Amino acid sequence: MSGKGPAFSSLYKFKELYYSFRPSNPAYTPEQYPDLNGKLAVITGANTGIGFEVMKLLYSKNCNVICIVRSQEKGLEARKRVLDEVKGSFGSIQVVGGCELGSLAKVRTAANEITKAIGGRPVCLIVHNAGVMPRANTDTSEDGFEKMFAVNVMGPQLLQHYLDPLFLKKDDDMKRIVWVSSCAHFYGFSDYGINWENPTFENVELKDRPSALTLYGQSKAANIFQAKAWATKHKAIVDNIGCVSVSCFPGLIQSDLQRDITSSWAKKAMSTILFKSYYGAYTELFAALSPKLKITDQGAYIVPFGEIHDPRCDIKSGLENGTDLKLWDFVESKISAFF
Ligand SMILES: NC(=O)c1ccc[n+]([C@@H]2O[C@H](COP(=O)([O-])OP(=O)(O)OC[C@H]3O[C@@H](n4cnc5c(N)ncnc54)[C@H](OP(=O)(O)O)[C@@H]3O)[C@@H](O)[C@H]2O)c1
Repeated sequence: MSGKGPAFSSLYKFKELYYSFRPSNPAYTPEQYPDLNGKLAVITGANTGIGFEVMKLLYSKNCNVICIVRSQEKGLEARKRVLDEVKGSFGSIQVVGGCELGSLAKVRTAANEITKAIGGRPVCLIVHNAGVMPRANTDTSEDGFEKMFAVNVMGPQLLQHYLDPLFLKKDDDMKRIVWVSSCAHFYGFSDYGINWENPTFENVELKDRPSALTLYGQSKAANIFQAKAWATKHKAIVDNIGCVSVSCFPGLIQSDLQRDITSSWAKKAMSTILFKSYYGAYTELFAALSPKLKITDQGAYIVPFGEIHDPRCDIKSGLENGTDLKLWDFVESKISAFF
């Protein structure tokens, strides 16, 4: 990585964000999905919101889904809802609870349970969907890291570390990883989205941290970098097994992500502006299943409701100049004690 990425104007930012409210029609919908009988997908945060819809659609296509959640109870409840709503599937849904992504120790423990749940079967799809977006910048993870970076970036990278040996095998012709990002990456820091001096805000008091939106934006910029960096780090085997790793912005979607918003008028306004949660699933499943994505699309950024688009221009150049690897290595240095 050399110097700062290209600067961008407010007009460019406005234009790109405006596009989020006027996305294209879904490009890839359930009737186009392949039969997933015998395939195994792993998805985080599938108990609610977009992840729930992704789990339901995968199961409706006969997929075996492992739903990784922090609350086993919520996961089992979501499983029951899907089994009640979708009849006749040849797939299955297993729930692995206790995967609190904001705790590196709990991710490591959950990884053991996930390994048991996979039970040596080929893993075809991994969707790093779980994420958090608090309105107020009020938290530090139990490991001492800024909470959104911990949950949205560090936890998923540690989980992926444990999934790698189970996933990176030539055992199935379908191999994809989706790292769920957001258009909010536009609100990250000016230098490739990341506060390079201290991305985790360790030892920085809450009052001295930037806004929650900036921190959420940083975490979502990092997700874009992770998609490309993971593929580069494992290039030989990734090419050999034909795996594609991409990030996506699912859309502006009604979900529990806005759970912190209490005002009734704001809730009402959002229910008119935001799209139903299955639209977000269309984007994530375009990223996970569309045959349009090829091995040459490593690190592609998918926007609603299923098309490849450029992320913020400095982040786009960061995908080409090694900034993605710098971010990956930084995160790895912080999580490697839990390998
Ligand atoms: N909705 C949107 O407009 C939008 C826009 C852009 C990007 N996204 C991204 O889309 C993804 C899915 O979000 P969503 O809208 O479906 O939100 P959601 O309904 O709030 O679902 C988020 C999921 O993540 C889980 N999660 C939150 N914190 C966690 C933690 N510390 N450890 C483990 N799991 C945790 C939640 O579990 P609990 O239920 O137990 O909390 C839930 O299952 C997120 O990555 C989000 O950033 C959403």
